[in-house]
Amino acid sequence: MGFNITEKIISSHLVSGKMEPGSEIGLKIDQTLTQDATGTMAYLQFEAMGIDKVQTDLSVSYVDHNTLQMGFRNPDDHQYLRTVAAKHGVVFSPAGTGICHQLHLENFAKPGATLIGSDSHTPTAGGLGSLAMGAGGLSVALAMAGQPYSIPMPKVVKVELTGELTGWATSKDIILHLLGLLTVKGGVGKVFEFAGEGVATLSVPERAVITNMGAELGATTSIFPSDRQTEKFLKVMGRIEDFSELIADDDATYSETIVINLSELEPLVAQPHMPDRVVTVKSLAGLEVSQAAIGSCTNSSYSDLKTTALILTDHQLPQGVDLMISPGSKQVLKMLASEGLIAPLLDSGARLLECTCGPCIGMGGSPVSAGVSVRTFNRNFEGRSGTQDAKIYLVSPQTAANLALAGKFTDPATWGTPPAKIDFPAEIPSIRHLFIFPPENGENVKLIRGPNIVPLESFSALSEKITSKVLLKVGDDITTDHILPAGAQITALRSNIPAISEYIFSRVDENFVDRMKKSDSGIILGGENYGQGSSREHAALGPRHLGVVAVIVKSLARIHRANLINFGILPLVLSDKSDYDKLSEGSGLTLDTTTLTPGGVAEMTTTDGLKVKVKNDLSEKELAIIIAGGLLNYVGRK
Ligand code: F3S
Repeated sequence: MGFNITEKIISSHLVSGKMEPGSEIGLKIDQTLTQDATGTMAYLQFEAMGIDKVQTDLSVSYVDHNTLQMGFRNPDDHQYLRTVAAKHGVVFSPAGTGICHQLHLENFAKPGATLIGSDSHTPTAGGLGSLAMGAGGLSVALAMAGQPYSIPMPKVVKVELTGELTGWATSKDIILHLLGLLTVKGGVGKVFEFAGEGVATLSVPERAVITNMGAELGATTSIFPSDRQTEKFLKVMGRIEDFSELIADDDATYSETIVINLSELEPLVAQPHMPDRVVTVKSLAGLEVSQAAIGSCTNSSYSDLKTTALILTDHQLPQGVDLMISPGSKQVLKMLASEGLIAPLLDSGARLLECTCGPCIGMGGSPVSAGVSVRTFNRNFEGRSGTQDAKIYLVSPQTAANLALAGKFTDPATWGTPPAKIDFPAEIPSIRHLFIFPPENGENVKLIRGPNIVPLESFSALSEKITSKVLLKVGDDITTDHILPAGAQITALRSNIPAISEYIFSRVDENFVDRMKKSDSGIILGGENYGQGSSREHAALGPRHLGVVAVIVKSLARIHRANLINFGILPLVLSDKSDYDKLSEGSGLTLDTTTLTPGGVAEMTTTDGLKVKVKNDLSEKELAIIIAGGLLNYVGRK
């Protein structure tokens, strides 16, 4: 029987386990990436393992999240990241060079390679045929140390694209359509593999929009074949030697097939505050817009911004509409500049921001109170923009530009003729000073740690008996933004766990940290899909620092589950979901942890004598990691 693309890459990187859906497999990792918000912790963890040089083919440290250098904290972290990269053989991308996923796609991603990154949108590189997965920083540190990356063998879903995009429909609308169809929980344990005649009509940047936002489905990753489009992209990027064809065998099998007819798609929008609340743009006609933002790792490529420039040419934004544009990389910016496309952006009244994540992570560009902001980003969680009552709508760049010009939602039928599909220039302008490559031998590189870099604390092993209380009860779809909000002030503390822990659940319950400090330990009770969103491991590290011993939920998001395990917090799932209603804040619970077995059911007892059954889907290794007190204890600190 033939293999699909996912199986081909997995089989050629399989270190342990069987390729049977659900069973744990260990994969050799070829490439890693980190960004600054998660990277400092990953490199502190890598240092704790006592290894001189990264063992991967390529590891890159990008600075793109916290580029605002107000006060010493961020610059100190960037300096640490630069020196630790040079010391250990990691390529360094300084602040302003671009957004990690756009840069990785342009410069380093390879068809058939495995990549893990401490950022949940690492699957962007799947647009070029890499098996690219978001992971916690500690998993990335371990991969840099040469350890395999463990995941449950995913199911592979075939997404067959027929027809061709027409009118104002874009690849953003393909992934929005899929999100509307499957919801933010629809991809758990799955890889979405794209196939069909429609694939050949999409360029690599268009494919990358889809694989980027596949993360919002909760998927392990998404992947496209490596074909003529891939070859063309790599040629334009000046690295044709990285091309190899990668297509599914004719007799490959899949767990299920979803068919999307591209010809039937029209511009779509995800409404506040979830990426799966998808409706047509025309259905919202009349809704006033006060801000638009074009950029982020989802939609900041050359073709995205050139289309934007063409739409804005000879037009003026209405007063009161703020349009921000963030190119995905210096390369994109230079290509726009060389074609004279910056002038129409500026003349329209738009603001050109730095080549960074910027407003996507709440680094400036917050909307006005109760404002409506249309953004080309991938997430619209409540408060993520920095304005708690703002309403964020996720759209394509074409839609954002048209709505910004109108100052309100309008029917795409009134937008006129769309610009022709953007092709790459035959040659791209050369650009220097993008990356800092490490010396062959980093032995003499001096590591510089500013006062913001606080050494990692050690955590104790799991005690044989947990006697604790539910110190917080939350509902469904709690995101990592709820657990640890983003924003300049908070993420600047990413290398200082005691300081950043003060913000855990601060926007959900401002007394939670106080309650934790007054107790020896605590339990969090959650609903469905707890921990969805970003890969930030501080959302597990912070609670662990405060003394959280277990989260008991109806269901868990993939990367957060892995982060909880990595830091020794028990992820438990209620066997009977109705028990959620029987437990409340203050409920005392005991658990004999010696009764825990991999994948088994254990019984907790409340102080009122109620028995609550909890199951875990932990493998033998994962349980051993939790018993050791976390992954660093398990692999052994040096
Ligand atoms: Fe950055 Fe936003 Fe992507 S924070 S990596 S642009 S999701």
